[in-house]
Formats: sequence, structure tokens, C-alpha cells
Amino acid sequence: MSTPIDATSTQAWARLTQLRQGRDIDLRRAFDEDPGRVERLTFTAADLFVDLSKNLVDTDIVAALVDLAGQVGLTERRDAMFAGERINVTEDRAVLHTALRDPSDVHVDVDGEDVVPLVHEVLAKVYAFAEKVRSGEWVGVTGKRIETVVNIGIGGSDLGPVMVYEALKPYVQQGLSARFISNIDPTDVAENTKDLDPETTLFIVASKTFTTLETLTNARLSRTWLLDTLISAGAIDASDSARSEAVSKHFVAVSTALDKVEAFGIDPANAFGFWDWVGGRYSVDSAIGTSLVVTIGPGSFSDFLAGMHAIDRHFAETDLASNIPALMGLLNVWYVNFFDAQSHAVLPYAQYLHRFAAYLQQLTMESNGKSVRWDGSPVTTATGEVFWGEPGTNGQHAFYQLIHQGTRLIPADFIAVATPANPLVDGDKDVHELFLANFFAQTAALAFGKTADEVRAEGTAEAIVPARVFPGNRPTTSIMAPALTPSVVGQLIALYEHVTFTQGVVWGIDSFDQWGVELGKQLAQQVTPAVAGDEAALEKQDASTQSLVRYYRSHRQR
Ligand code: F6P
Repeated sequence: MSTPIDATSTQAWARLTQLRQGRDIDLRRAFDEDPGRVERLTFTAADLFVDLSKNLVDTDIVAALVDLAGQVGLTERRDAMFAGERINVTEDRAVLHTALRDPSDVHVDVDGEDVVPLVHEVLAKVYAFAEKVRSGEWVGVTGKRIETVVNIGIGGSDLGPVMVYEALKPYVQQGLSARFISNIDPTDVAENTKDLDPETTLFIVASKTFTTLETLTNARLSRTWLLDTLISAGAIDASDSARSEAVSKHFVAVSTALDKVEAFGIDPANAFGFWDWVGGRYSVDSAIGTSLVVTIGPGSFSDFLAGMHAIDRHFAETDLASNIPALMGLLNVWYVNFFDAQSHAVLPYAQYLHRFAAYLQQLTMESNGKSVRWDGSPVTTATGEVFWGEPGTNGQHAFYQLIHQGTRLIPADFIAVATPANPLVDGDKDVHELFLANFFAQTAALAFGKTADEVRAEGTAEAIVPARVFPGNRPTTSIMAPALTPSVVGQLIALYEHVTFTQGVVWGIDSFDQWGVELGKQLAQQVTPAVAGDEAALEKQDASTQSLVRYYRSHRQR
């Protein structure tokens, strides 16, 4: 296991510390004095047009950040990831989500085996299955074609698929739709099945491990719902053979543990595999995306993979000084470590991206929310900012107040596309243009603010001038693309995967494990008997847990 280079001990870090103390970037002045700033700080990759000019940097700071990447070995670690080295050291695994979108002529070896043919073999199987569902060749137990696919999964086996499904709604085949069940709150299954027709529903149980309590419980509840409703409607009889026939027509699975899939009762012929070198939060482009392949189709899914691959190549091949994911990751480090930024907003001006922030929360926070480095030593600086966001303009009418005028620095990424999927007009007004005017205006307001003199010049009473001043210098990155196509959605995902990777390398973190989710799972198992009424188990709990469980037991109505 290699020892991570301590970023704080590098020359570049010392230089950044000096730059942070020695100069305050004023964006008004920076723009006024440097007509080349926007051009120099705008970068393109595939369809993405990324403007970094409204960040709190100048040429020296960008150079020092790029030096930092060089001095912590970003390129070496990036190359090790793409080459299939076991950089996920705490789980002793390769990290090869990038191989999931490699074209078939690429070779990537893991333990002497080229994994790219395996990827394409599974893709072909998923595509063939999806085509059968889409064409109506795959029918339910009563001979009806499938109209609804229900993905049952959680974390990476849910957030990626649901986010992309929502993002690509215009690409969904007419007559098909998807739903997503994730929470073990029984309401999730109840609400999602209450108006479903079992005869036209196909469940996809998606779980990398096929041990996740939430997913297996929801899969069993859904199986019970399917059989009970089919039997009570007289669509099938109650015999074992009729039940297993119904399950085989209405349940498929995606997992790395195909033996467990079979034990659950799903025909292995209807199971799609993937591998331990695909992390859960990096798996939407594996068979975990089966609900997407069915709904948007293999063609659109291939475009989605191609978009991811284009950004992979950009990250792998572009000099760090113009490498967008590397620069965005380094900017995040700049704000977290030199401005004490606690959080980062992601604000898509695209309603279809309304689950993007939720998706990014797992990607970024499960990856970089760590206090030890990959060799087990403590981190030497703050890590893992909180990612959050909502689509514009909803956020404007909710929390932007704090971003504009609060006491905290909140870097924000703004995302928008030029051509909308729904080009509506309001009288003579193109509504997308009204929408985008907000996108453009917000980053300008955040960057350049409004001075007291400007407020006064509007005739504002002196007493309320301070309340109406905007300090500006609130950093933003603007990301634009021609349209929200499958490729662009893939590009955005790969972009943020590599941003996350870059930050993890600077901090010396294993961005691919997630031990922090384990303790709560174990304690939930221990407390389960206590919740169910086992006094001896309850007495083993701490005083607060005992009190809360007793409250629950005395108030639960059945
Ligand atoms: O909660 C932790 C986690 O392991 C995530 O990393 C993962 O995406 C999720 O659980 C679901 O796991 P699985 O796909 O194995 O059901």
C-alpha cells in the first residue's frame, strides 16, 4: 500500500497559503483589469462548455493548484485507476467504472483478464432483454406486454437510475414508464404499487451485493404484492408452479452475486451481472442501468455511455492546466481548505435534472466524507464538503438569499442547456429564455454584487442600504451544453466522478470505500429485537435508545 503524499507538506500548498493570505480576489476588478480572463478560464470537453472565470482565482492561483495536483501525483493515480490497479485499497479492489463505457477495442486487464469483453457481453444481454420488453415480445404471465418497470434498489442501485430516468424523460418510449422503490419505509412499496397493474409490471431487483436489507425486503414485499393481486384477480391460480411462473415473468435482477439472485427465486437466465470493481455509486452505467435501457432504449443508453467515455478520455489525456474535472476538483479543494467552505451547491437550470443533487450527494459524500487516508493515517486537512442543491429557479425563491448575502462562502455550480426539450412560449416570450436569463443573472449577481453606492443611486433610504448591499465575490462555475441529450447526461456524470476523484487524491483518501455506512446497519440489526418487544435486548441499549423505543412501543397502534 503506497503512502499518500501529504498535500499540506507540498511546496504548492505553501504557495497557495501565501496566495490566500496575500491577495483577495475581487471579481469586479479582475474582470475589469483582465479582458482575457473569461477566454482563459473557459474550457470545453465533448459537449460541455465550462466557464470557471467567476471563481476566486487568478493566474498564479490556478498555476499553484495545478502544481498541487502534480505534486500529490494526480496523473499517476488517475493512470493507475484507468489501468485497473487496485487503488481501492481498503477493499482490495480495482476501480474500473471507466471500463464500463470503453469501446470494445479497448483492453483493460484485471488479474490478467481483459474485462472489456465481459462488459460488452453483459451489455449485449441487457440490450437484448430490453428490446424484448420494448417490442412487446416479453410478456407477463397473462400474456400482456410490459408497461411499467419498477427498479428496486437503494443508494447507487437507485440514485443513478432514477436521476438519469428523470433527466431523460423525453427519450422514454411511449407506453413505457419506470418507477423506483428504495426506502424500507413500507410507504414506498405501498404508494408505488397501489395503482399498478401486476399483469403489465416488471420488477428489476438491483443490488450489487444482493444482501441489502432495504432492497431484499422491498423485493419480497413486491413479490408478495404481485402474487396476491394476480391470484385475487383470478389471473393465476395459487399453485407453486403458477407462482414461480409469475415471478419468472415479472422479476429480473442485477447483481454481482448471481447465486444469491437464484436463491431469491429469480431465474438466473433473467439476471444481469457486474463486478466488484464497479462501486455502487459508480454503477449507473453497468447493468444497474437496466431500467434505463428498457425505457430509453439501447440506442440512447449507448449514447449515454459514449458521453461518459468522451469525458473519461478528456480526463485521461488532457493536460491538467486545461483538464476540466481536475480544475473543478482543485477549485473545490481551494474553497474547502483555504476558505473553509463547508458546502457546495449544484444548481441545474434544467427541471429534468431535479434529482441531480441527490445523486451527487452519494457520489461525492460517500466518496470523500472520510477522516483517514488510504494508508489508515489521519487526514491532514478538512475533506468532504456537503453537496446540495435544487433546480433553478426554485432555489432562487428559497435558499439563494443565504448564498448571496449570508456569512458563509458557498461555491456553486450552475448548469444549463441551450435548447430545451419543451420550447414553450408565453405570448411572444420564449419561456426557456426567461428561464436562462435567471441562470445568467444569478452568477453575475453572485460574482459582482451591488455596492452601497449603487443601492443609494436607486434612491434607497439610507437606513436600509446595508440590507440591500450584495457583497459579490461569491464563486460560481457555469456549465453549459447544447441540449440535455443522453450523451450530455453521461458527460455530466463522468465530469463529477472525476471531480470527486481529483479531490480524493489531493486529500489522500480512498474515494471508493464506504465503511462509514456500516455501523448504523449493524446497530439496526441489534436493536430490531428490542423494537419488536424483547425486553432483554432493549436493556442492552443506551438510555436514550431505550427511552425512544419505549415511546415507540407505547404509541404504536395496529
Ligand atoms: O449504503 C452503502 C451502500 O453500500 C452503497 O454504497 C450502495 O450503493 C448501496 O449500499 C446499495 O448496495 P447494493 O447495491 O449492494 O444493494
